[in-house]
Amino acid sequence: MELLPKSETIALREKYIAPSCDLFFRKDPLKIVRGKGQYMYDELGNAYLDCINNVAHVGHCHPAVVKAGCEQMALISTNNRFLHDNIVLCAQRLIATMPSDLSVCFFVNSGSEANDLAMRLAQIHTGNTDIITLHGAYHGHLTSTVDISPYKLNMPGGPPKKEFVNIAPLPDSYRGKYRDTTYNNDEVGHLYAEEVKEICKKIQGKGKGVCAFIAESFISCGGQIIPPKGYFREVYQHVRAAGGICIADEVQVGFGRVGNHWWAFQMHGDDIVPDIVTLGKPMGNGHPVAAVITTKAVAESFKKTGVGYFNTYGGNPVSCAIANAVLDVIEAENLKERALEVGDYLKNACEKLKQQHEIIGDVRGAGLFVGIELVTDRIQRVPAKEIASYVVNRMKEEHVLLSSDGPEQNVIKFKPPMVFTKENVDTVVLLLNGILQEVKNIPHLCCAEKSTDNLISGKGPLNIKKTVKEQVKCI
Ligand SMILES: Cc1ncc(COP(=O)(O)O)c(C=O)c1O
Repeated sequence: MELLPKSETIALREKYIAPSCDLFFRKDPLKIVRGKGQYMYDELGNAYLDCINNVAHVGHCHPAVVKAGCEQMALISTNNRFLHDNIVLCAQRLIATMPSDLSVCFFVNSGSEANDLAMRLAQIHTGNTDIITLHGAYHGHLTSTVDISPYKLNMPGGPPKKEFVNIAPLPDSYRGKYRDTTYNNDEVGHLYAEEVKEICKKIQGKGKGVCAFIAESFISCGGQIIPPKGYFREVYQHVRAAGGICIADEVQVGFGRVGNHWWAFQMHGDDIVPDIVTLGKPMGNGHPVAAVITTKAVAESFKKTGVGYFNTYGGNPVSCAIANAVLDVIEAENLKERALEVGDYLKNACEKLKQQHEIIGDVRGAGLFVGIELVTDRIQRVPAKEIASYVVNRMKEEHVLLSSDGPEQNVIKFKPPMVFTKENVDTVVLLLNGILQEVKNIPHLCCAEKSTDNLISGKGPLNIKKTVKEQVKCI
């Protein structure tokens, strides 16, 4: 099919696509027409190094995944009311990566649907409705999941918080309520867990029980936060004592991204076993497939209602063929181990950058999920939101795709396809170094944190050396 001129694509998008559908780089959006490995290509054939696409987990358009999808599509795609080997084998493989109590699988189409079903299961199993979620959390775009996503609730114009929703502080030991400057890691974990305990007490004080606590075990939209030691152990105890169950949202961070484990909840100890785990994004490497894994007890409670679960597309043979191929590639290409090795290399390189740039307040992460928190003052830890936005836009001009996140949008996020290499890290760090140097020479940006509107249009006042751009490898 012949490509439309980019201007026409923009015009048609403006005319026909809902204006609330956000674009990356709104002022000069990218038209991406092809992907391979860790690279995306625009309509002119320019390569962009992708540091943000954790969906393209095993690399954009991995041939083995594409082949599995095409072959199954040519055979049959139907719903899961018919027996098919792909769905049962996929469930068996996913469950093999989990602690033994997590032994039952539901297939759905997206992370939002997975979390919606998790909420429904929790309500049925506990008979309660009160959910505890974390400040800054995002769990999906459905009405039900927006309700438990302070990331959206707290936006100007966001919907009002519902009464059954209880928001606990983000367990952020760098810039949160309890910090590593005053408390050690164990104390911070305990203090944040006590906040959840207080919420449980409040709910019980109203004569009710807790329905569920939902959290990512490595918090993404909240700003790449690894909850402190002991936090989940204590929280899970408080929530269960108050009649609730625990949901681990692994939609962003699952499938080996954290390097030494399949799932981020496993980073917090072998005894941390959620009652429900939700999966999504990387599971289909770009194809919509997601899942909910739970215990026999929770699944039985649902069965006892007598209401059957039917999902037209969830678990169809094509989606499951693709998910199985993704699991094959992770194993065949040792991508978990690679995430650990390249992620450590990235973190070390960013730590070195931190020594040269005051603006970097914190570097944290596990595997290929890393955050660089920018602050204008290392003592007060004042978020450098505008500078983060400047850096992301300048990196795009240098053909590296990054994003910023966190409640103050001041955390630069790395979550690249797992085929990312050390050479890619070198390219990114060299560019970042140059751009952070640029920032130092823009006094009004560096000191006053004013609007960067005039700087992010691709015509920044300083230009990084051209040679750096050329290092983005084209394949
Ligand atoms: C942590 C988390 N949970 C759930 C979702 C929702 O997933 P989806 O967009 O596939 O519905 C997202 C999406 O960004 C997410 O980041």
